[in-house]
Amino acid sequence: MIQPTVYQKKLEGKSNAHLITFSDGKDYVVKYFQPGFEKTLSNEWVAYCFARYLGLPIPYAQLVEIPQDFSSQVPELAQMRHTNFQFASLYVPNCVDGHQVSNVSKIINHQSLASIILFDYWLCNRDRTRKNILLHEESPDSYQLWVIDHAEVFGSYNWLHPDLDMLPIGILKSATHKLMALFIEDEKHFIEQLELIQTMPILLIEEIVALIPDDWGVSMAEKKGMVTTLLSRRKNILPKVVQKFIQNVYRPLHQNQG
Ligand SMILES: Nc1ncnc2c1ncn2[C@@H]1O[C@H](COP(=O)(O)OP(=O)(O)OP(=O)(O)O)[C@@H](O)[C@H]1O
Ligand SMILES: [Mg+2]
Repeated sequence: MIQPTVYQKKLEGKSNAHLITFSDGKDYVVKYFQPGFEKTLSNEWVAYCFARYLGLPIPYAQLVEIPQDFSSQVPELAQMRHTNFQFASLYVPNCVDGHQVSNVSKIINHQSLASIILFDYWLCNRDRTRKNILLHEESPDSYQLWVIDHAEVFGSYNWLHPDLDMLPIGILKSATHKLMALFIEDEKHFIEQLELIQTMPILLIEEIVALIPDDWGVSMAEKKGMVTTLLSRRKNILPKVVQKFIQNVYRPLHQNQG
């Protein structure tokens, strides 16, 4: 497992994410367990695994073990709660976020966009803001898009078991989804992605949830609740909401484009 070598800096945002260089020579964005944000790390972990299965453009990530004697030497880290594992996402350099671009004329990986939207609906990610995509300019106005920050899947970063039964089932307000929808060339991509989500093996879903580190405090009942929610949302909610999205968001955007 990679070891932290050099602390770089604290990043903007409510998760208190930290940029740290590791023994593989690469920089990672590391999130620690934080009281008040108890589900941040488990949300990030399961969302990452599902995103990888679905082929989403998500920065490579892994669970890391930052030794307490490393954290204790850095004032910004010394105050973080120590757990055996932290969540580390490979830092993608030279990106801007969705607020920082005025003109996007092309998204190079546009084939992934429908799957990002469906993923957000499946996991109930209400936080697909413009800050939570990264855009890497490959040629003028032409970008590679990455998704980051899945701390708020399952509706929030500190959800409790009963909340899982009350997750929204309708259209989420997201200017970023609209931006992405503009670049989706055919609505059949939504249907293909729905099928991919619906055929993901149940055993794999269970295993990903089971791998949540014990000291992140997610109870057995909550883990079971996560699996049940994912199975029920992909079967009962996704097919309806994707139709609503196509009708209410995708088609109007493309009709207006002429
Ligand atoms: N893999 C990455 N590569 C490059 N930059 C990243 C990466 N992950 C996060 N960042 C940067 O760090 C910031 C904070 O990360 P992130 O959005 O995951 O956490 P957050 O604190 O929950 O954010 P917010 O408060 O905006 O919801 C991001 O806005 C982005 O600028
Ligand atoms: Mg964020």
